[in-house]
Amino acid sequence: MESHSFFQSSSLDFNLFKGDCLTVIPKLDNNVDMVFADPPYFLSNDGLTVKNGKVQSVNKGQWDKLISDDDAYNFTYQWLSTVREKMADNATLWVSGTHHNIFTLGRILPELGFKILNVITWEKTNPPPNFSCRFFTHSTEFIIWARKYPKIPHYFDYDLMKRLNNDKQMKDVWRLPAIAKWEKSCGKHPTQKPMALLAQIILASTQKDALVLDPFAGSSTTGIASSVLGRRFIGIEQETEYLKLSQARYEDLQNEGRKDFFRQHFYRLLNKEDSNSLTL
Ligand SMILES: C[S@@+](CC[C@H](N)C(=O)[O-])C[C@H]1O[C@@H](n2cnc3c(N)ncnc32)[C@H](O)[C@@H]1O
Repeated sequence: MESHSFFQSSSLDFNLFKGDCLTVIPKLDNNVDMVFADPPYFLSNDGLTVKNGKVQSVNKGQWDKLISDDDAYNFTYQWLSTVREKMADNATLWVSGTHHNIFTLGRILPELGFKILNVITWEKTNPPPNFSCRFFTHSTEFIIWARKYPKIPHYFDYDLMKRLNNDKQMKDVWRLPAIAKWEKSCGKHPTQKPMALLAQIILASTQKDALVLDPFAGSSTTGIASSVLGRRFIGIEQETEYLKLSQARYEDLQNEGRKDFFRQHFYRLLNKEDSNSLTL
């Protein structure tokens, strides 16, 4: 474990490990209460897209290169079974995807003994236009929520989700914008998730001090949201560049007023101008 450690906060509640999650996870000492995973979607096939009005390559990096269906199945099976070993019996797992990987995930999760609880549709309020004009604009991602065992109950803060949704039951369709510019103030990751998405996930499925694991941490959005909300975090990432970015984001968060800034942003997205009406 020591050999992989990249960064640990002085309060020991924010931990980054460098390496392949398949080899780092088995060495972790603790079982975790929740896992959020944003794995490679294997989308980098040299295609083109439009970003900020400019034609750009869809390629994200070597880690996202298109591989065969069999390889994608085997990789997904391996990391899910490795992660499952470190989950507490009542823990839950969230995995994000698009049509490229979501069906593989949907097949493997029950094979490994997970029970799927929901498939959240994240509707992006500001998606980039479709470049080819031969399809509908892609404007959604999916996030599968599953628990470790079919019969062991999981934690769900139903009341908080309802209060966040103007006292109506929260649906499995979440309308949230894609990542905003200010979220990249410490540097860029090509597939960085928005903080608000992670905040909602963490609040729905964990209690204060819960231990959250992200095996594909990237820029550690999961860790930053965990930290803002008083949860502990273990992130694993194989690229040094993204580990440095994660550390920079954590250090930025320690500046006065930063945590409040993030909370206020989340409230605004949920149209809760009066943040005193809700204590997170
Ligand atoms: C989709 S990105 C995650 C982005 C992250 N959710 C964020 O908000 O920044 C996936 C990340 O997993 C990393 N990765 C890919 N395969 C890995 C592996 N086997 N072990 C550890 N990290 C891996 C990649 O370098 C990439 O940064």
